[in-house]
Amino acid sequence: MSIDINKRLSENLSQVLDIPAEKCYSLIETPPDTGFGDFAIPCFAFTKESRKNPAQIASDFERLFSKKAKNNEVIQKVKSNGPYLNMFVNKVYIVREVVRHVFKSRFPGLHGTGKTVIIDYSSPNIAKPFGVGHLRSTVIGSSLYKIFSFLGYKVIGINHLGDWGTQFGKLITAYKRWGSTEQLKSDPVKYLFNLYVRFHSEAENTPELEDEARSWFSRLENNDEEAGRLWGQFRDLSVKEFKKIYGRLGVEFDYYTGESFYSSVLEDTIKSMKEIGITSESDGALIVPLGDDMQPALLRKSDDATLYLTRDIAAALYRHRTFHFDLALYVVGSPQALHFRQLFSVLGKMGLGWNENCHHVPFGHVRFAEGSMSTRKGNIVFLEEVLDKASELALSIIEEKNPGLNHKNEVAEAVGVSSVIFNSLKNYRIKDVAFVWDEVLNFNGETGPYLQYTHARINSLLKKFKEIHGELRFEEGLSFGAEGYGIVLLINNFENVVIHASKEFEPSIISRYLLDLASQFNSFYNTHRIITDDHSLSLSRALVVYGVKMVLKKGLELLGLKAVEEM
Ligand code: ARG
Repeated sequence: MSIDINKRLSENLSQVLDIPAEKCYSLIETPPDTGFGDFAIPCFAFTKESRKNPAQIASDFERLFSKKAKNNEVIQKVKSNGPYLNMFVNKVYIVREVVRHVFKSRFPGLHGTGKTVIIDYSSPNIAKPFGVGHLRSTVIGSSLYKIFSFLGYKVIGINHLGDWGTQFGKLITAYKRWGSTEQLKSDPVKYLFNLYVRFHSEAENTPELEDEARSWFSRLENNDEEAGRLWGQFRDLSVKEFKKIYGRLGVEFDYYTGESFYSSVLEDTIKSMKEIGITSESDGALIVPLGDDMQPALLRKSDDATLYLTRDIAAALYRHRTFHFDLALYVVGSPQALHFRQLFSVLGKMGLGWNENCHHVPFGHVRFAEGSMSTRKGNIVFLEEVLDKASELALSIIEEKNPGLNHKNEVAEAVGVSSVIFNSLKNYRIKDVAFVWDEVLNFNGETGPYLQYTHARINSLLKKFKEIHGELRFEEGLSFGAEGYGIVLLINNFENVVIHASKEFEPSIISRYLLDLASQFNSFYNTHRIITDDHSLSLSRALVVYGVKMVLKKGLELLGLKAVEEM
């Protein structure tokens, strides 16, 4: 998908200097200062065969090169500097080759690696509002999904809904006591959440409520008809609302297998762990001791209720059995670090080996500036309200900047939602995210709208090009200029950037790269006219710009942002 510049350099050097190409290839580096050259090879590695010192070798290479390689297509000039042989590439050649490649290949993505990655992301709790806390898991997970797919992995996205546990005993209790079907239907998630909050405040004075809740959960775990029916209703209503949000965010899942999915296999899971002999009893509870520096894993409480961790163990076993994954990622906030350490070490104790392939992918909090978003009881900022506000603000900016734009509302929604997504993906995920409206939506800042705006600007530029010079196409013999060199190096590096992001489970690596690319493009655009009377010049520059558009579009897509054509 990209051209291997180092390979071309080393083949070229190998021919001229009569040294092995593979050896050159492995030595090529970038000098600390571009004044020295674009690339360099340290000559220490050639001392053995020539029995000369490296500085001598470098200057011999320089002399030989200058003699033999006049008008070299790839390397313009070499210069020795102490033990280094510095090279100045033929920039026009690089620009042309990268542009040719991008134009012909159009970033198809890589082909199958044969590996399977499963990603557990979003995973909100039913009957609770979808808060901004789950936003980050959702957008980071979804971006990783797209990144791995692009790189040719088979990816499976799982929404591990929080749809099981003692809290549903509480909710059923509250609903049986105070609930109304009409209110439930009109605004289900908020209504259920309020019932849950009410349960807690009433339980302070009426402790029997807790017993009642425990008994409802136990009925649920024992397949009681009424408990199951109510729970099913809460779940369906919640999932329906979550799907509305996923629709707006452009996020999808292959499976909505939440915690409840594993409820029927929990006993067997526990049994097999007992058989292996890693469990022990402690005050009537069943645990797995995990050594001195970790709290034991609690599998079953003394009242027989199973736990979040028990269900995660069952889920991991099921997923491995079903999908034979090579890599399993859990995109969950950093407060759950201990939970995942316990989970993975239990799997390790079971002698499974593949626990090494499971990774917690943690991230920091989202913080709103004081007073910028109302928090409800329970201190939750509703994501839906954040998206609504972003979309409204985007619309008012568009009204001001481009009132004649077609499909204004659609564009505003795409820009608003993308601004929220990008704000979550812009920095290292482990960092907390500050949410400041003016920054999130600043069209000139380090934002989603800035990238989208750059993309739209290129789009209209290319349209104009077409009107004047006709279809864009790659022609041999075009007069490329060296001014696009910095940009094409970035373009050519796109695939490496995506690979790097996949290795670190870090979409922000792509975000930073796109910001860099957009700013390089903008300064290119400000200093060089793209559309001129000179057809060949215009075409060669437009092709560079086209490359930027392709990468920007693909990059935005990998982050889950919409690359609107106009804004
Ligand atoms: N529902 C959990 C929460 O909101 C997140 C679940 C993450 N996934 C998992 N397999 N534990 O905190």
